[in-house]
Amino acid sequence: MTSLPEIDGERLLARLDAFAEIGATPGGGVNRQALTRGDRQARALMTALAKARDFSVFQDDAANLFIRMEGRDSDLPPLLIGSHLDSQPTGGRFDGALGTLTAFEVLESLADVAFEPTRPIEVVVWTNEEGCRFAPGCMGARAFVEGKIPLEWAGTRATDDGSRFNEDRLATIEALAPEIDHRRLGFPVAAYLELHIEQGPSLESAEIPVGIVTGVQGTRWLEVLFEGQTAHAGTTSLQFRRDPLKALTTGLAALYETVMPEKADARFTVGRIAVTPGSVNAIPATASCTIDLRHPDTFVLDMLEEDIGTQLAAAAETERVSFSIRKTVDMAPVTFSEDVVATLQTAAKTAGFNTRSMISGAFHDALFLAGHAPTAMIFVPCRDGLSHNEGEYVKPEDSVAGAHMFLASVLELLR
Ligand code: GLV
Ligand code: MN
Ligand code: MN
Repeated sequence: MTSLPEIDGERLLARLDAFAEIGATPGGGVNRQALTRGDRQARALMTALAKARDFSVFQDDAANLFIRMEGRDSDLPPLLIGSHLDSQPTGGRFDGALGTLTAFEVLESLADVAFEPTRPIEVVVWTNEEGCRFAPGCMGARAFVEGKIPLEWAGTRATDDGSRFNEDRLATIEALAPEIDHRRLGFPVAAYLELHIEQGPSLESAEIPVGIVTGVQGTRWLEVLFEGQTAHAGTTSLQFRRDPLKALTTGLAALYETVMPEKADARFTVGRIAVTPGSVNAIPATASCTIDLRHPDTFVLDMLEEDIGTQLAAAAETERVSFSIRKTVDMAPVTFSEDVVATLQTAAKTAGFNTRSMISGAFHDALFLAGHAPTAMIFVPCRDGLSHNEGEYVKPEDSVAGAHMFLASVLELLR
């Protein structure tokens, strides 16, 4: 009889440190944006670690990476566990990496005791969860679920250097192709489980070590463009100006005063703003920005989106500039599988973890996987709820506790 699998906390923490060195920033975080050199280095390290344990490794056409442990019946669809390794430009070392490395730790802990699962288990590293270098986010998970790379991604360019998604995707696949096998997109999955840091303050403030995530709120990304007339900064009086930046700033000021103050559960963020031609002594010709809008309720999202359009159009009219708004991402809110959530609750009870049920404010690859297989997530607390920030921090004991909970959940899901 084999002994029971045990999480090796030291090993997990050492792995977190090793991955945090890839793309490390001076502020203590990581810049390992999707399909960059850093992302490829992280994939190469993941592959080397997997091979050192004799796990087989695969990648699909979206450059999603899979690390497989065989089960008693290898024809059964695998239990899929994992997260992502790409980061924000000034990202933290735990967002994505903690879930990926926890999943890998579970695989290793099973291998340590020669545990034979009833079905195969696969650790997945999804491509481009963040969506900041190439929009939208969760590209790998979405392509996997749809079984193809959506056509509209063909011309997508990186925000930093203008390189193309398709070329970077192929180069990333190519870099590992000599060592690992190809896998088709969208293969059947028994269930999907992902661990992630909460990225919000509720677990930490309630001193609860484990969140059981029952769903994810909706996200919309909008691209706003005002077009006016560039003209001389020194000679153009107010009445001759058609200044798109004035329309943008007054329009946004109105939105900051209304969207979140009026709807406590709404989240409204302008994360990117640009003007052309960008000359100190010329009135801009165009002013543009992105809007990230979130809410748990589709109906409220519809209302807010309409209101945003109306308020920005009014600002455009006042400044006599033209205005357009385009929706580039629409992730509907999702409710996770009741069965998987119940299994996680059972696992927590058995393992003695105090938990809280919650919905996720951040989107995750699990949001898309929920359309393909029974899915749920586990959250662990992070300091001050801070994330998408180099200062993001998870206490070592919370990372290790999360891994214990994850292992208990995997064992429960296999039953
Ligand atoms: C994920 O990174 C998100 O923006 O929710
Ligand atoms: Mn993440
Ligand atoms: Mn993130």
